[in-house]
Amino acid sequence: MWYVLIFLAVILSGCAKAPQTDEPFRPVYHHSPEAKWMNDPNGMFYDEQAQVWHLYYQYNPNDVVWGPMHWGHSVSRDLIHWEHLPVALYPDSLGTIFSGSAVIDRENTAGFGENAVVAVYTQSEYIGQNQSIAYSLDGGMSFTKYEGNPVLLGDIADFRDPKVTRDGDHWLMTLACQQEIRFYRSPNLKEWTYLSSFGEGYGNHGGVWECPELVKLKGERLTDEGDKWVLLVSINPGGPFGGSATQYFVGNWDGTEFTCIDEPDEQKWLDYGKDNYSTFTFHNCPDGRIVSLGWMSNWQYAQQVPTMAFRSQNTIARELGLYVDEAGEYRVAVVPSPENGVLKSKQVKQPTDACIIELELSGEENSVTTLMNAKGEKVVMTLDVQARTFSMDRTASGDCSFSPDFAAVTTTPLFVQRDQYKVRLYIDHCSIEAFDADGAWAMTNLVFPSVPYNRLDVVGGKATIFDIK
Ligand code: FRU
Repeated sequence: MWYVLIFLAVILSGCAKAPQTDEPFRPVYHHSPEAKWMNDPNGMFYDEQAQVWHLYYQYNPNDVVWGPMHWGHSVSRDLIHWEHLPVALYPDSLGTIFSGSAVIDRENTAGFGENAVVAVYTQSEYIGQNQSIAYSLDGGMSFTKYEGNPVLLGDIADFRDPKVTRDGDHWLMTLACQQEIRFYRSPNLKEWTYLSSFGEGYGNHGGVWECPELVKLKGERLTDEGDKWVLLVSINPGGPFGGSATQYFVGNWDGTEFTCIDEPDEQKWLDYGKDNYSTFTFHNCPDGRIVSLGWMSNWQYAQQVPTMAFRSQNTIARELGLYVDEAGEYRVAVVPSPENGVLKSKQVKQPTDACIIELELSGEENSVTTLMNAKGEKVVMTLDVQARTFSMDRTASGDCSFSPDFAAVTTTPLFVQRDQYKVRLYIDHCSIEAFDADGAWAMTNLVFPSVPYNRLDVVGGKATIFDIK
């Protein structure tokens, strides 16, 4: 189709560009807006004809702080190099454009056209929040708003962030409603019927629930335990280290109701750092993969971080799976998506401002990994074999002055006992993403060193450092 050619031209011209290095904290292999403010990733989908990943995002084109929300738009062929495209959705008389999702309507259920890309999003206005839709007949490049908007009227103040998926012969919407998640179904994306709610008495209720998604995960990581349904729910505040975080619930979905198999007071977190919020998965991923992205910041200080032309970036693409931990609990496995494999170039002796570090840490004695620079700024990561935890201390990591909530030590249980622990660190100017190599846990933290960390010290293990291509 003609738009496939346009995509290819756009992407190829984008790949030829040097990475943006216009300020010290600008990431080189993470998605960030070209300029101004970004929060949640929205409407992500994969177009298999064009072989392009679409990423829309909460965007304020006028300032580097949150404001009237639009959907910004970027595309990528490899989930690493992103091309910035014009704003996809502007506010209108029904309100600003909050978070939401997009689906490919293969069977033309909505009547907009075969294979229309339909965006479903919250419109926020002073008196409330409603859900609207818009359609694209050019593969997600431009949208027309449906004249019958809004398609689902809110009945409470917080009524937002529709994530739509195909469930059998109809569409399923998960929606955040104060501190619970509601499920709705529709034959055509225009008329929605309430099905059920989940949340009362379960998990963490320290703040408002946002950005939900119900996703079926396969038990093929670590153990093979079959499939389960996982309900991802971002919460703000209420995160384990303050502010925003993404909790999840494991259970079953019968087409009408979500039944949680976790104990009601159990709290499971998708990431045990401070800076991974509103994780969503891409619609229509190839090969049945579940590829996700999260917003790499925290509402406690996202609007104060010391970047200049832009604020916020997304995590690297991560694949989600399912495993059973040593206590017999189902947990979400998180690993960097294979696309990130191309990042590694030559092995180097010392860390750089954008590098990957592979750690092999002892399972018998505690290990301490320290990243540091000539100014004495450092990030200290400790794997404690007695306590069975991995922690990251950024209290002396560099600039922490912009918010009292920034200096922090984050800790994750190891969840699985091993003879040797393999940890992967992805460093990109102002972020460190740490992963158990087999996906048992992930930890994402921002850092703002005054000069890049260029020394690495590992006690109780060894490290291999790779520069980024
Ligand atoms: C989460 C969130 C969403 C909302 C959007 C507004 O970060 O608060 O609930 O749709 O941001 O920008």
